[in-house]
Amino acid sequence: MVEVQHVTKRYGSLTAVDDISFRVEPGEILGFLGPNGAGKTTTMRILTGFLPATEGHARIAGFDVFDHPLEAKRRTGYLPETPPLYPEMTVEEYLRFVARINGLPSSEGRRQAGLAMERTRISDMADRFCGKLSKGYRQRVGLAQAILHNPDVLILDEPTAGLDPRQIIETRRLIRELAGDHTVILSTHILPEVSQTCQRVVIINRGRVVAVDTPDNLTARLQGSQTVYLQIDAPGADVVAALQAVPGVARVSEVEGRDGDTGYEVESSDGGDVRRELSHAVVTRGWGLLELRPQQMSLEDIFLQLTTEEPPSDLAQSDDGTAPDAFALSTEEGVHE
Ligand SMILES: Nc1ncnc2c1ncn2[C@@H]1O[C@H](COP(=O)(O)OP(=O)(O)O)[C@@H](O)[C@H]1O
Ligand SMILES: [Mg+2]
Repeated sequence: MVEVQHVTKRYGSLTAVDDISFRVEPGEILGFLGPNGAGKTTTMRILTGFLPATEGHARIAGFDVFDHPLEAKRRTGYLPETPPLYPEMTVEEYLRFVARINGLPSSEGRRQAGLAMERTRISDMADRFCGKLSKGYRQRVGLAQAILHNPDVLILDEPTAGLDPRQIIETRRLIRELAGDHTVILSTHILPEVSQTCQRVVIINRGRVVAVDTPDNLTARLQGSQTVYLQIDAPGADVVAALQAVPGVARVSEVEGRDGDTGYEVESSDGGDVRRELSHAVVTRGWGLLELRPQQMSLEDIFLQLTTEEPPSDLAQSDDGTAPDAFALSTEEGVHE
């Protein structure tokens, strides 16, 4: 349904997208995962015909987005990073306006606007001004305009970014519902997003595809590296040796904590959870356990791990012992910038 073949995009000397290829099958929800600046938006703008590629080809339902832009666009719904709403129009006026731009006659436009509002559950907002909507509703109106002409393919650029946790859950549910009739590509810079919504993930970093996999396989590949950070009050004691002796611990390293104190990073073997054993070892020695938390991997860590042959444990440490960026391997809701 969607084919991207060796697409490269250069902005002057910067290669934003570097020889990317992937396919999306009909009815599939594909996650396009990568940190900020990875090239997600650029790729999506190329797919939707807003930006020409420097090299390569992209096809929607067999139509090249450059050679047959109208045919390709007719089959594509696009939700950009910021939904293109007109604040002074009501939701219904806006959607009928979009229908008109898409070439639908007035009566058909009214009908499609009504259907799109029903499917995105914004019918009760029909007479609200777009400028007065919450971020969550703006996003839904953005989705409504994307599905208005009943396209085969939906391209959604970070559809849940900036939403609160409840809105995120609702938007994900909505996307999964829409996926029944559409092929969906959604971009995100957080892993929970793809594990909860997508069937397959393309991971990009610095413009290149570094992995294509299912969310389950991906999570499994990353599970070898469970790291726990501890801060312990034990003046003069050999903390490293004590932690090293705890069953299930593979490696202990001293790191500098947030406020200059010494912290410890403990890696367990085979991703086991050794937090109970660690806290027991500390407390039974009469030491103070000031902090104990799982170390979250940053996207950069994950990309390193996916793209090198090194054992994962070597890469799960952060140099400075601080919590890495807003990226969690957990499935908790609301992990976003
Ligand atoms: N119009 C532009 N001109 C120059 N550089 C750009 C432009 N748009 C994006 N870039 C650069 O291209 C890279 C990829 O950006 P983008 O596709 O927006 O990434 P993402 O959506 O994954 O955050 C970034 O380094 C960004 O600064
Ligand atoms: Mg982007």
